[in-house]
Amino acid sequence: MALGDEDLGGKGETPVSAVPVAGAPGGGQLQWGGRFGAGPDAVMQAINVSIGFDRKLWRQDIEGSRAHASMLGSQGIIAAADAQAIDAGLADIAAEIEAGKFEFADALEDIHTNIEVRLTQMLGDAARRLHTGRSRNDQVATDFRLWVRGALDGVLAQVKDLMLALAKRAAQHAESVMPGFTHLQTAQPVTFGHHLLAYVEMFSRDCGRLSDARARLNECPLGAAALAGTSFPIDRHMTAAALGFDKPTANSLDSVSDRDFALEYLSALSILAMHMSRFAEEIIIWCSSPYQLIALSDAFTTGSSIMPQKRNPDAAELTRAKTGRIFGALLGLLTVMKGLPMAYAKDMQEDKEPVFDATDAIFLCLAATAGMVRDMTVSVTRMQALAGSGFSTATDLADWLVRVLNMPFRDAHHVTGRIVALAEAKNLDLPGVSLADMQEIEPRITDQIFGVLTVEASVASRTSFGGTAPANVAAAAKKWLEILT
Ligand code: ARG
Repeated sequence: MALGDEDLGGKGETPVSAVPVAGAPGGGQLQWGGRFGAGPDAVMQAINVSIGFDRKLWRQDIEGSRAHASMLGSQGIIAAADAQAIDAGLADIAAEIEAGKFEFADALEDIHTNIEVRLTQMLGDAARRLHTGRSRNDQVATDFRLWVRGALDGVLAQVKDLMLALAKRAAQHAESVMPGFTHLQTAQPVTFGHHLLAYVEMFSRDCGRLSDARARLNECPLGAAALAGTSFPIDRHMTAAALGFDKPTANSLDSVSDRDFALEYLSALSILAMHMSRFAEEIIIWCSSPYQLIALSDAFTTGSSIMPQKRNPDAAELTRAKTGRIFGALLGLLTVMKGLPMAYAKDMQEDKEPVFDATDAIFLCLAATAGMVRDMTVSVTRMQALAGSGFSTATDLADWLVRVLNMPFRDAHHVTGRIVALAEAKNLDLPGVSLADMQEIEPRITDQIFGVLTVEASVASRTSFGGTAPANVAAAAKKWLEILT
């Protein structure tokens, strides 16, 4: 209903339970209408309604209700025939929703009521027994845990796909040298494979965080009822097992008021998004005109409407930007939760949209990032040229002075600094400085020095555990490919 002025006034002499609910298919009744004399104000309905977004939980809601009904039946709390009818009715509703034939009604507030009212239309009294020994508070907590668990599994699979894409490119480029940066200043040569595998390590920690969150999430709140548990002889272990949970949650108050699982999920997504944002930033730098270390194809770039020469890395930029809404989701939900006393409060209805939105965003970012990794053309020659610029093998020169001349490293650093200054003054790179010029600065230097000044020699020498030597990188890439395939 549109909110016109006339809709804002107090109204409603008509008893709610006697009135078919506007917009409800076939005319439903509010589930809590017993002691209410009037229907909700339009504003009340507008602020309260959640069906617009919590309809996403329909599968989980039906799954949870089927588990609950079958437990009620087997415990003798409702008749076996009723339990069977409820089960069949819920399966029919699932088919209706799947086929797009289900009419979701705002007036029925949320997904739980929409489904229960439809079941009541189909079955009559049997359906009215389904809500025995539960409440929407434990129902929504269960639905949402199931949804987040599914999302966690989906995200984990996509992160592994991204890691696989990276490990494959790393194996191809175990020997390709590129400039390694600190402070975005040329530091020392590294291999491109090594650089990509740094991200594989980061994403594997993300997998660890997501798996940890999943393990802690996997307890079932169903049967905690409104907040205190129930007097019916329910079997919470049975419903927990039926829904794939490890066990029921231990405390009924905590069960209905806990959203840690959503917060842990959003924190894991935030760190994952931060990692992808850093990688996106690198892609943007690498394919920028001054660098040209990689190129993205038409598949992962857009053109400019005015500058025909442009090829813009929009997928990388949007991956970087979507991090903002993922962080926002985490901060938003933390803020929703921070002032809530035990147990359930309607504030918690605001838990869903940020989680749904962050999930959409993370899937897009994961797919775009894996796509760009697979799509990118790597300019090995340009990487090699830049790898040797900026006196990137200065540390190798200093290390040679230490190793061969037994110089203390601090002295070697000083001598090397003077050689770099000389090269800079003569507009040469390090291997271009003549032996005679070097000997002016340190007479004991021999022509052996030139053996360590190339970028290939530099990376090959970095054989320490975890270092960038091509042999290390090839072995690490192989290890990851074995783990991921
Ligand atoms: N739509 C509600 C939510 O998302 C469901 C639980 C409602 N419980 C209640 N006592 N009003 O939180």
